Amino acid sequence: PTSSVCVLDSKDAAGSAPCAHSLDSIPGPTNWPLFGSLIEVIRNGGLKRQHETLIHFHKKFGKIFRMKLGSFESVHIGSPCLLEALYRKEGSYPERLEIKPWKAYRDMRDEAYGLLILEGRDWQRVRSAFQQKLMKPTEVMKLDGKINEVAADLIKRIGKVNGKMDALYFELNKWSFETICYVIYDKRFGLLQDSVSKEGMDFITAVKTMMSTFGTMMVTPVELHKTLNTKTWKDHTEAWDRIFSTAKHYIDKNLQKQSNGEADDFLSDIFHNGNLTKKELYAATTELQVGGVETTANSMLWVIFNLSRNPCAQGKLLKEIQDVVPAGQTPRAEHIKSMPYLKACLKESMRVSPSVPFTSRTLDKDTVLGDYTLPKGTVLMLNSQAIGVSEEYFDNGRQFRPERWLEEKSSINPFAHVPFGVGKRMCIGRRLAELQIQLGLCWILRDYKIVATDLEPVDSLHSGTLVPSRELPVAFVPR
Ligand code: HEM
Repeated sequence: PTSSVCVLDSKDAAGSAPCAHSLDSIPGPTNWPLFGSLIEVIRNGGLKRQHETLIHFHKKFGKIFRMKLGSFESVHIGSPCLLEALYRKEGSYPERLEIKPWKAYRDMRDEAYGLLILEGRDWQRVRSAFQQKLMKPTEVMKLDGKINEVAADLIKRIGKVNGKMDALYFELNKWSFETICYVIYDKRFGLLQDSVSKEGMDFITAVKTMMSTFGTMMVTPVELHKTLNTKTWKDHTEAWDRIFSTAKHYIDKNLQKQSNGEADDFLSDIFHNGNLTKKELYAATTELQVGGVETTANSMLWVIFNLSRNPCAQGKLLKEIQDVVPAGQTPRAEHIKSMPYLKACLKESMRVSPSVPFTSRTLDKDTVLGDYTLPKGTVLMLNSQAIGVSEEYFDNGRQFRPERWLEEKSSINPFAHVPFGVGKRMCIGRRLAELQIQLGLCWILRDYKIVATDLEPVDSLHSGTLVPSRELPVAFVPR
């Protein structure tokens, strides 16, 4: 079923699609009554291993396949050509799969939606209000002072958690949480101190609870949870209540400071230049926080793991850091510009061990993709991990080899590596996350050698992000 020819779509010269087939003819796993392919997914390791099952299904059925899990039907895309075709056909307001539990909470409390759940013109307006501050490289570079302050605290913690690797992930979560709060609210919560304030701990716990309770309500009707007032619904709403009340408190404080002329300008610039209501600012800001914590911590965890298993790459990276950042100087965003190997290491780590294995789109119009006409409303899953580890697009696809990104005559298709998604709706925190991880790595590598404590395989499990299947066999040896 696979074809190595890049067929963007099957239109003839007149623009119609005479040879496009219908949704029903897309191949896929057996669709049993009621369950669809759920049983096959469970047989392959269940939802925790769904990302590996998707890779397997792409090998079996080709670059596009169709699958039903219970009543949820989706079409899976696993080739850079199809991603590019989709990108070229993208309308003004691309949509992702709805996060119904989040919408239900906002509707109940009469709060606004943020970027992760907004649609249409409202999404575009809020997106453009944040776009400049978060996506313009010169603006993001200005955040390096704050990023470094938190990174310096992380380094002290790494010395302390050494040998207790389950604690490392929590420290990294606190590091990314603290950084994003410092950037958006201009507030240090002190999460990396020896004793953490109750407010800080409650805030991070609320985000954790909110994230761990919405998955269930994505696969069972949220209205039912709400009507029955289930524990999941109660925990979820209580968590959002705390997130909103803390976020509002610090946003208001920031705007107040600004009107007194003493403020950091991040949020107030967005608020005043972006034509947002306060309610929209609250919702969009909390969602930035929710979107940016675990993803960044998780990507950092995997790059630490990949460097522990590749001492040559680690040595090369340390040399680059030492060549570019003079001893005793703080690494800055300006230095990162002259560190191609550092950028390649992060890119390669996000390819072999991505945090997010796929994203989604809901088609807002009938669309011809490859050989098929997909009706409006079709949910597409864009399987970025399956593309990123495919031998068809990367030689020795599972091997960590940063050099592949630095080859002069690289033939890597840009749509074969999309860990932050594609098009107008791609991750808005990408540059912030990259800078944070790159600077963090400079700090860690200058102080510590990262060593592997065993060489047995470490698989990934799907739990919102892809987390290691066991405690990371990694240790930090002071240099
Ligand atoms: C969207 C990944 C860090 C905020 C996304 C998407 C992905 C992603 C795959 C979906 C894009 C699409 O559908 O095309 C990641 C990864 C990160 C990261 C791997 C870390 C390495 C961040 C950070 C923030 C953030 C630091 C906040 C500053 C968001 C938001 C969206 C988003 C708000 C929705 C954007 C929209 O729909 O307009 N991210 N993200 N992310 N991310 Fe990130």
